[in-house]
Amino acid sequence: MSLVVDHLSKRFGTVVALDDLAFEVPPGQVFGFLGANGAGKTTTMRITLGVLEPDAGRVAWNGVATSSLPRSTFGYLPEERGLYPRMRVLEQLVFFAGLHGIPRDVAERTARDWLTRFRGEDLATRRAEQLSKGNQQKVQFIAAVLHEPQVLLMDEPFTGLDPVNVLLLREAFLELRDRGRTVVFSTHQMEVAEALCESVAIVDRGRMVVGGPLRDVRRATGRRLVHVAVEGDHRLPWLAGVSGTRIIQAGMDRSSIELDPGVEPDAVLAAAISAGARVRHFELADPTLEQVFIDVVGRPANEDAHLAPASPAAAGAAGSTAPGRTAEDAA
Ligand SMILES: Nc1ncnc2c1ncn2[C@@H]1O[C@H](COP(=O)(O)OP(=O)(O)OP(=O)(O)O)[C@@H](O)[C@H]1O
Ligand SMILES: [Mg+2]
Repeated sequence: MSLVVDHLSKRFGTVVALDDLAFEVPPGQVFGFLGANGAGKTTTMRITLGVLEPDAGRVAWNGVATSSLPRSTFGYLPEERGLYPRMRVLEQLVFFAGLHGIPRDVAERTARDWLTRFRGEDLATRRAEQLSKGNQQKVQFIAAVLHEPQVLLMDEPFTGLDPVNVLLLREAFLELRDRGRTVVFSTHQMEVAEALCESVAIVDRGRMVVGGPLRDVRRATGRRLVHVAVEGDHRLPWLAGVSGTRIIQAGMDRSSIELDPGVEPDAVLAAAISAGARVRHFELADPTLEQVFIDVVGRPANEDAHLAPASPAAAGAAGSTAPGRTAEDAA
């Protein structure tokens, strides 16, 4: 019971969109598909749905090629939202559910429940074209889940939502997960993925860079941090004598200190205490997903792929030396 992206390759003309991309999504998890613009996230989702044919490889759900499964196995939130502009919201939701064989009364009841959850009861009778971008997105999300699909493929579902709606959507993902659904969503917002995902795949230019349980991915670079807060002076003068440590972020509440290999966290604590600092907070920590992404890909996820050269670290981690071209390169 898992979704296996099995060595997918896909070109568009001379553009390599996917280059032997392979990873596995464990069932019943919220899974983050992470990559900068042009990484190949949308292409992978479209191949999973059978909308696009790969040049090589396949995607399988429980061992069966997804392209041969009923479309209702999946709930898809496309990157380019596609509501009917003139159709009223509830009518539209009932229509989409009907395509998956859901009877009108069931669809209407479920759709109203979802609208209420998203604080959008009043949207039911509005036309899609009258809705704000965020509200259209909520409606499209509901359209994707009304037929209770086993696997949700959500392409950038958090983009354009305000913080309240980000929270509501996060809760919805977790609830669907608790009901046994597998939720795959793409994003380049690492903090969202970090707060929500059990497992992730980091993809760059169509190649797998690092993936697996979030905890392992955050440890993949071997960087170790301690977070410490002391009373009084937050500039950490007491750390000066501890070799093999670097302050990567100094703050009033909490400072982050990176440890070189072989340096034990105890050395930091001992230095603080022996200098007379009053330690209020001390913890061992892994780098954030954002830090890991920058380390392994060579640039932040929210920076366009075509603006930066391929990083040697990323190419090495992916076991490949030939950087794929992006459409932007070709243009
Ligand atoms: N229909 C197409 N024709 C030509 N090139 C394409 C097509 N679809 C995708 N590509 C190219 O394939 C690569 C991967 O694109 P894809 O849309 O899968 O990336 P993405 O990770 O979804 O990016 P974004 O975060 O910008 O949505 C890009 O270089 C893109 O320009
Ligand atoms: Mg995309």
